[in-house]
Parts: sequence; C-alpha cells; structure tokens
Amino acid sequence: METDFLVIGSGIAGLTYALKVAKECPEKKVTIFTKTTSEETNTKYAQGGVAGVWDHQNDSFEKHIEDTLIAGDGLCNEKTVEIVVKEGVDRIKEIIAWGAEFDKEKNGDYALGKEGGHSEFRILHHKDVTGREIERALLEKVKSQSNIEVITHCFVVDIITQHHLGYLVTKSTPDIQCFGVYVLNFRTGKIEKITAAITLLATGGNGQVYRTTTNPAIATGDGVAMVYRAKGRIENMEFIQFHPTALYEAGLKGQAFLITEAVRGDGGILRNDDGEAFMARYDQRKDLAPRDIVARAIDNEMKRTGTEHVWLDCRHMDQEKFLRHFPNIHEKCMSVGIDVSKDLIPVAPAAHYSCGGIKTDEWARTSIRHLYAAGECASTGLHGANRLASNSLLEAMVFAHRAFLDAVGKIKDPSNPGWGSWNRNAIPDWRTEGTTAPKEMILITQSLKELQLLMSDYVGIVRTDTRLARAMRRLDLLHEETENLYKTTEISPQLCQLRNMITVGYLIVKSAEFRHESRGLHYNTDYPDKSSMIQNIVL
Ligand code: FAD
Ligand code: SIN
Repeated sequence: METDFLVIGSGIAGLTYALKVAKECPEKKVTIFTKTTSEETNTKYAQGGVAGVWDHQNDSFEKHIEDTLIAGDGLCNEKTVEIVVKEGVDRIKEIIAWGAEFDKEKNGDYALGKEGGHSEFRILHHKDVTGREIERALLEKVKSQSNIEVITHCFVVDIITQHHLGYLVTKSTPDIQCFGVYVLNFRTGKIEKITAAITLLATGGNGQVYRTTTNPAIATGDGVAMVYRAKGRIENMEFIQFHPTALYEAGLKGQAFLITEAVRGDGGILRNDDGEAFMARYDQRKDLAPRDIVARAIDNEMKRTGTEHVWLDCRHMDQEKFLRHFPNIHEKCMSVGIDVSKDLIPVAPAAHYSCGGIKTDEWARTSIRHLYAAGECASTGLHGANRLASNSLLEAMVFAHRAFLDAVGKIKDPSNPGWGSWNRNAIPDWRTEGTTAPKEMILITQSLKELQLLMSDYVGIVRTDTRLARAMRRLDLLHEETENLYKTTEISPQLCQLRNMITVGYLIVKSAEFRHESRGLHYNTDYPDKSSMIQNIVL
C-alpha cells in the first residue's frame, strides 16, 4: 500500500494531525493505523482534563508557564513551555469547534478544575471522562473526512529506512530517512509493506512495562522502541510518572482504575492507616503538591506503615457536587462496595505517564527525516523531569498542529527532494523464511510477567544503583531469550510488544543509570541531591 500521510495511532495526537492534513490537502490520502479498535487509546481514559489559561482575570500565561517549569524541576525547555502554553488555548478552541464539550458553570462560563502543581483553576473537563469525550468528538470528525482511512487491528512492527535497502545505518548516520512501515495485519496474519511520503508516530505511552499502571493494554511503548531500533534519538526515559492515586484493588495486575487528581483539587484528603493527613509533613502544598512529591510521600508512608495503600478521604466533600463532577469514579467505587460519602477510598501509586520519549524539535520532527512524533511517545521538552497534571492532552494537540504545518509545507514544497535517489520499489517484502509457528505462548507471557515485576520492584518510584544494576542484568537475559524467539518464530503482536517493552525497559534503566542525581520523578537514594552537571539524557 502507498499513502501520502501515514499516521500510527488513533489517540488525540494522531487524530488531530490526521484531520488537519486531510482538510488542508483534500487530494492527498491519509491513512491511520491502530493496533486494536480506534477508540482504545490512553486518550480515552483521561479524566482530569486539559490545562489552559482561560480565566484571564485570575490566571495568566506567565503563571501556567511558571507552574510547568516548577513541576519540571529544572529540565523543561523554556521555549517549548511557552509555545505549548500560549498556542494551547487556540488548540482547545479548535476541538471545541469540532464538537468536544466541556462542563460549564450555571452562568455559562467554563467550569475550571485544579490539580497538583497548578496555582490557579485552569483545567477544562467533561465530568471525569474528558478523554472519552475528546476521543468521541475527534473520531466523529474523522469519519466525515473522506480522504482519511482508519485501519484497525493492525500492528506496526518497524519503520522502514535505508537499512531495509541494504545500507548500513548507525546512530551517526546523518540522513536516516523513513519510507514507511511494516504492518502485521491481524485479519490476514501477514506483514504488509506500507510506503508513505510522511509518517507521524502517535503511539502513546508505555505504562504496561510496569505491573500496575493506569494505562490500557495498548500502552507498550512501540513507537519509542521502533525509533530506537531505527537508530533515532530517544530522550529522558528515566522520568516515568507514577500517578499518586490509582484505586487499590487487592491482587489486581495491569490497568488500574484512576482516581483523578481533580478529586484532591476539589478537597479530597490523603490519609495514612492511622488516619493522619500526612501530606502536610512532606510539602506545604499538601495534597496538591506536584505528582512526584505526592507519589513519593505515599510510597514512603506505605513502606513506613507496612501497608499496600493509603486512603483518600472524600467524606467531607459536597456529595451532590462530587456526583456531578465525578460520576464515573462514583460508579466504579460503588461497584466495588465503596460509598465515597461514608467510606475511605484505598489508593496507591501506579505507572501513569512517560515524560521522555522520541526526541523531537519544535516542529515535532524526529532525528529521522520524514518522520514526526507527537503526543505521549514524543519528548518535546515540555515536561522536563516531571509533567504538570493535564498538560499532556494540551501538548499532544499543540505538536500535532505543528507537525501538520511542517509536513504540509514539505509536501507542497516543489523543491522538496521527497524520496530523492532512493528507490521505493527496492524495499523488500517482510521475510518469514526460517520461522515456525510459536509452540508455547508461556515463553512470551512469563517473560512479560518477569519484565513487569522487575521494573516495578527495581525501577519504580525510589531507585538505587544496586536495584538498577540488578534490573539491567535481568533485562539482558530477557532480551537475549526474546531476540532468539523473534528470529525463529512467526511474529505475533504479543511477541512484538514484549520485544518493544524490553527495549523500553532497557532505555528507562540505562537513562536512570546515567543520572547520578535525584530530580523530579527520578529519585535514587545513592544520589539524593540535584547535580547541575546533568541535563537531558539522550540515547
Ligand atoms: P494514545 O491516546 O495512547 O494513542 C496511542 C495510539 O497508538 C492507539 O491508537 C494505539 O492503538 C496506537 N498504537 C500504539 N502502538 C501501535 C502499533 N505498534 N501499531 C499500531 N498502532 C499502535 N493527560 C491529560 O492531559 N489530562 C488528563 O486528565 C489525563 N488523564 C489521564 C488518565 C489516565 C487513566 C491515563 C492513562 C492518562 C491520562 N492522561 C491525561 C495522559 C493522556 O491521556 C495521554 O498522555 C494522551 O492521551 C496520549 O495521547 P496520544 O495520542 O499520544 O496516545
Ligand atoms: C488525573 O486526572 O489525575 C490525570 C491527569 C493527568 O494525568 O494529567
């Protein structure tokens, strides 16, 4: 298959970009691949909302910029922060024009929420299901755009570069170029070759690398792993954000239900097993300190008291308002026997967001020509060492827009060499000779469990050199075994995902090993202080 604009991912980043390029270039073909259904994305699960300066009487761009920089703990790119905060408001207006609805006060003004690290109320939301509403509006819009095709249940395995044409490609090759992707089609079981003038990766996060995560099963870091294999640049992978308050359900593995930070923004209070509102001992901003601080405090309380969770107390809150703002949380709690007006909610931190990723510039360009990245898989410089709550949907829209501007400029530029001297007909089909059908799924499922355990136990909220070294040794073994399997068996999405997650685990551990300091989300007890010598870690 040949297309003009190839998009991998149907979350907020992929859909926003696709809509824009499709409208601007109606004669061009836009193709979106997504590995399960079109709506199953991290985007769908976003609860709290989208941060943006809306109330110009009390809030300002300067305040939002300052809050983002403080949360980022010295590693944000200030230019990127300014771009996102200032351009973000127009992007929010755009999705509203496309049909996304946000809650309003009785007087018609938007109802603004507050979350950790924000000095003002600035978060637009749709009850506690903001992402579901955005995804709905975007998918509806995409359906009405005739030059966009969404192809579901297709797993993108690798991006195609000159490596596939037989050329040596290393990290120092100056002009690595992306010609498209190889895709495993679940329906046919075949791997197809898709060529494209321009490709955007919008593959989302990697929470599934950990045992407990707020992320759905699709969040396996595929885009990051593909770019790393293709010798592109990856940045700041050690900064994995743990959300402080996922609902604790004994024995649960995989996706945990999130209790949005907006609950604390509306007055929810964290308590330990003794009933103490312990956050006051850790930070003067108490329950609304930035996430790294709150998650570490909870982790410490759990270790100190020997418990598997702390409690979120909402009993004192206006219950009618709670039900209006958080109907989804109310329903979920009820379904597991928790009445928030009477009971405390058991909560524990869970892997939530990857602040690093594929290194991109201010136009969402990666280090590989004709390849863009936007959304959670990208590292734009906005988040630094810790993301400010509700800044990620905003970032995804801003950089999807910037990728669109640059990509369309390129495609319309008559002097653009396009494929140059590369011959697209020479790209080989995927080779399957020498592989056999997998005999035992246990070889994949057990390795996945081992990976998730070791990442949670050794590379979680608190790290040490010894834990990181142990993690790396175990990752080496998993890597060797999985590569052998990959070379000898017919590939499946499960095997590809495992391989990608091992690569992502390796990138997180390697970056963590390089960072001899504690900053933002990376806390290593062997180096408890900050160092002025270490900036962004690029692998
Ligand atoms: P996603 O929405 O994750 O989409 C990824 C897409 O890529 C999917 O379609 C997937 O199928 C596809 N894909 C991945 N790999 C492949 C492959 N190999 N082949 C084919 N397709 C592939 N952020 C906020 O700003 N505010 C919030 O309130 C908020 N709440 C959150 C609550 C939860 C529970 C979670 C998990 C996250 C939350 N976030 C929030 C973070 C935010 O939702 C995500 O960062 C954002 O939605 C990511 O969007 P995206 O477009 O980059 O990727
Ligand atoms: C939440 O609603 O607490 C999550 C917000 C985010 O991750 O930005």
